[in-house]
Amino acid sequence: MKFVRYFIAFSTLCLSTTLSQDSSDKSSEENIMPKCFKPQYEISSSGDIKKISDCQTISGSINIHGYDNELLELGSIRQIKGDLKISNASQVMRIEAPELESIDGSFTLSTLTSLTSASFPKLESVDTLEWKVLPILSSVGLNKGIKKINSIIMSDTSLTGFGGFNVDTLKTLRIDNNRFLERIESSVKEITDELIIAANARNLEVAFPELGWVKVAMIKDTKNLDLGGLQVVQSSAEFIENKFDTLSLPKLKSIGSTLSMINNKKLENADFSSLVEVGGGLMIIKNNNLKEINFFPALKSVGGAIEFEGDINDSSFKRLKIVKGSAIMKSSSSSFDCQKWIDKEVSDVVRGGKIECGSGNSEFTEVIHIDEDGERTGTSTGRNNAKTSDKGRGVHNVHDSTSVATHSFGDTRGLLSIFVACLTIMAAVEISS
Ligand SMILES: *[C@@H]1O[C@H](CO)[C@@H](O)[C@H](O)[C@H]1NC(C)=O
Ligand SMILES: *[C@@H]1O[C@H](CO)[C@@H](O)[C@H](O)[C@H]1NC(C)=O
Repeated sequence: MKFVRYFIAFSTLCLSTTLSQDSSDKSSEENIMPKCFKPQYEISSSGDIKKISDCQTISGSINIHGYDNELLELGSIRQIKGDLKISNASQVMRIEAPELESIDGSFTLSTLTSLTSASFPKLESVDTLEWKVLPILSSVGLNKGIKKINSIIMSDTSLTGFGGFNVDTLKTLRIDNNRFLERIESSVKEITDELIIAANARNLEVAFPELGWVKVAMIKDTKNLDLGGLQVVQSSAEFIENKFDTLSLPKLKSIGSTLSMINNKKLENADFSSLVEVGGGLMIIKNNNLKEINFFPALKSVGGAIEFEGDINDSSFKRLKIVKGSAIMKSSSSSFDCQKWIDKEVSDVVRGGKIECGSGNSEFTEVIHIDEDGERTGTSTGRNNAKTSDKGRGVHNVHDSTSVATHSFGDTRGLLSIFVACLTIMAAVEISS
C-alpha cells in the first residue's frame, strides 16, 4: 500500500487572523439554561452528553470517562470555559465536535485505545493540548487550525505527520513515543518551558528554524534537526542518541545549565561557533564518529565540569578561560595527546576539582587534583571508560510516560485520509491510495 503525503499550507488564512478572541459574546443570551452552568460535568454515557450537547457554552469542565458508545458527539457545544477531558473510554472510536471553538483550560485525550479519528473543525483556541496513549489515532481534523495555544503534549499516538504549530510562543512542546511520526515542524519562536522530542519514528525530521529561545531542550532519536536560529537555552540542552551527522547551532550564544551530547553515533561535525558560555557542565560522551572537539571557538566559561569520552583524537578551546569544575578526558584514540591537553588546554582554566586524562590503549587515566586557586594538590589514577567499557552512561530515560505496548496498527493504517493538522497554518494530509 502506498502513501502519498501532501502538505497544504493555509498560511494566508492563519496569518491574517489576529489572536483576538470573539469579544462579542454571542452565546450569552442563548445560554441561560441552568444546566449549562456547573463547575464540573462527569459524563460516562451517551445519555449524559445528550443532556448538555445543546448548550453553546459550558461554564465548567467536562470529564468524560468510561463512555459506552463508539461515537462521542459534542453537539452544539461551542465553548468550554474549563477543561475537556476524555479518558479511559475503550469503546470510543470517533470523536466529533462540529461546533467547538474554544476550550479555556486543558484539552486532554487520554487512554482511548479504540479511537481512530477525531474531528474538531472549528477549534481555534486551547490552553493546553495533552493527548496521550491514543495508540491507533491516525486522523485528526483541525480544519480551521489552532491559533491560540500554550502547550502541546503528544505521546503514544499513531499520528504520522504534525504540521506547523505556527504560534510564536509555546510554554511546553513535548512530542514523544509517536512511532509513526516522521516530521515535526513549527515556526514557533520561543518555548518558555520545555521542548522535548523523543522516541518518535526512526526517520524523524525536526524543523524549528525560527526558534530563538528555549528554556529546556531535550532532543532524542531524531534523524535530522534544524535549530539553526537558536540563540539562547536558558537552562539545559541535551542531544541524545540522535542519528544526524551534523549538529549545527551557529547562533547559540549561551546555555544556562548543562550541555550534553551523548551517544549520537553518527555525529561527525558540530557547530557552536557563537557559544560563549555554558552555565553548567559540558558533556560530550560516546559520539563515536566525533573525532575532534574543536567546535567551540568562542567558548569562554563553563560553570560545571567538562567531561569528554569517545574516540577523540584532538581538542582545542581557543578562548576558554574558566571551568568551575573538573576537566575529564577519556579518549580511546592513541593519537590523543594527554600531556598537551593537560598542560596547554586545561591546566590554567580549571578551578577546583580535578583534571583527568586517559587515551589510547590505556585502561587508566592520570588524575591531577586542583584546588580553587588552580593549584595542583596531588595526583592519582582513574579508569579510562572510553577504552574499558562500552556501556552507555548518563543517558536519561526520556520520561515517565506509560510506555504503552504499541498496539498493532493493523488495517486501520490504510483506511484513513490522514489529516493531521496544523495547529495553525498547515495541515498535513496523508492520503492512502
Ligand atoms: C478505566 O475503566 C475501567 C473499566 O471501565 C476501570 O476498571 C479502570 O479502573 C479505569 N481506569 C482508570 C485509570 O480510570
Ligand atoms: C583526527 O581525526 C580526523 C578525522 O579522522 C583527522 O582528519 C585528523 O587529522 C585527526 N587529528 C589528529 C591530531 O590525529
